[in-house]
Amino acid sequence: MSAVEVICSADVEIRDALPEDVHAIASLYAWHVLNGRASFEEVPPSVDEMRQRMKKVTDLGLPWLVALYRGVVAGYCYATPYRPRPAYRFTVEESIYVDSSMAGHGIGSSLLSAVIARCEGGPWRQMLAIIGDGNNNKGSLNVHKKHGFEVAGQLRSVGYKMGDWRDTLIMQRALGDGDWTLPE
Ligand SMILES: CC(C)(COP(=O)(O)OP(=O)(O)OC[C@H]1O[C@@H](n2cnc3c(N)ncnc32)[C@H](O)[C@@H]1OP(=O)(O)O)[C@@H](O)C(=O)NCCC(=O)NCCS
Repeated sequence: MSAVEVICSADVEIRDALPEDVHAIASLYAWHVLNGRASFEEVPPSVDEMRQRMKKVTDLGLPWLVALYRGVVAGYCYATPYRPRPAYRFTVEESIYVDSSMAGHGIGSSLLSAVIARCEGGPWRQMLAIIGDGNNNKGSLNVHKKHGFEVAGQLRSVGYKMGDWRDTLIMQRALGDGDWTLPE
């Protein structure tokens, strides 16, 4: 068994985020805001702001999950409504961040799988991932492909971060019956 499999099977727990995870989540995301190109934020949100974002998600019945590696938050993934206008109500957008020191160990994959499963248990029919700096973000592209997402489009140079124009890649997958049936 490889080291990666050992980490995933024995040492990683996926569960709903708890209020006390907020500091770890804010700190993990701050690294990506300051050092990564996936997030188009440039100033890390405060702990209070992150707390509000988490509450907004869970108040809607949507999942905000964390991965714990030996009890420490190593990543998180959540789903938000794609857009507020009512016809979009069956479509969610997913976001995922793994601690940079823990990337490549299957944590992102486990989180994404769990968030998809949770959303499939609800009324939602389509899931989008909008990937910042998509063409250069092979990790995100591959983790989403692995879980059934396909590239639906690309927005060119809609972001400017770290001294260069950044595209976003839009990826999409159906949830449950997708558009094969109408919602109840
Ligand atoms: C993208 C991200 C969530 C992936 O999480 P991860 O735990 O590193 O990914 P995993 O180890 O679960 O890998 C999942 C698959 O993607 C592939 N992959 C992961 N990182 C990769 C990389 N840098 N380059 C190419 N492929 C990669 C893996 O090979 C794996 O496929 P396999 O199981 O068939 O081998 C993580 O790297 C991250 O947080 N990146 C920065 C933030 C981001 O881009 N978020 C997504 C935008 S919302």
